[in-house]
Amino acid sequence: MTRLRTLSLAGLLIVFAGCTGGLDDEKLAALKPQEAGRKVVEKKCFSCHTIQGEGGTRAPNLSSIGERLTPEGLKQFITDPQSVKPNSAMRKIHLSEKQIDWVVAYLSELK
Ligand code: HEC
Repeated sequence: MTRLRTLSLAGLLIVFAGCTGGLDDEKLAALKPQEAGRKVVEKKCFSCHTIQGEGGTRAPNLSSIGERLTPEGLKQFITDPQSVKPNSAMRKIHLSEKQIDWVVAYLSELK
């Protein structure tokens, strides 16, 4: 019984680690905001978006998104896509406040 309990606890921990995508805000905070943002984007956005040849093709290429959207526009879209485009195909992605700011710092320099 105890063994089973230990196993399910280990399982829960793995699931939890999967949810945070292995992103550790404390470690990321030691980097430049743009570098931290790049790491968040690799984990959370590359499954759908491409940036300069890396990433997926399910969503628009973000290689020069900084030309089209202002930092404020980016922040609003990333925080809640449907508040900008009510029928946007992009679902809300769980990110911390800091992660959102880092992602905006990174993407707004892509021109
Ligand atoms: C499950 C797929 C998926 C993921 C993951 C995803 N997106 Fe998107 N994203 C989309 C789709 C699809 C669109 C365009 C369709 C729309 O807006 O209706 C889009 C649009 C965007 C746009 C607007 C592009 C434009 O040209 O107006 C931005 C900015 C954006 N995504 C940023 C991000 C960021 C940053 C992340 C990671 C934190 C992310 N997306 C993760 C699917 C995704």
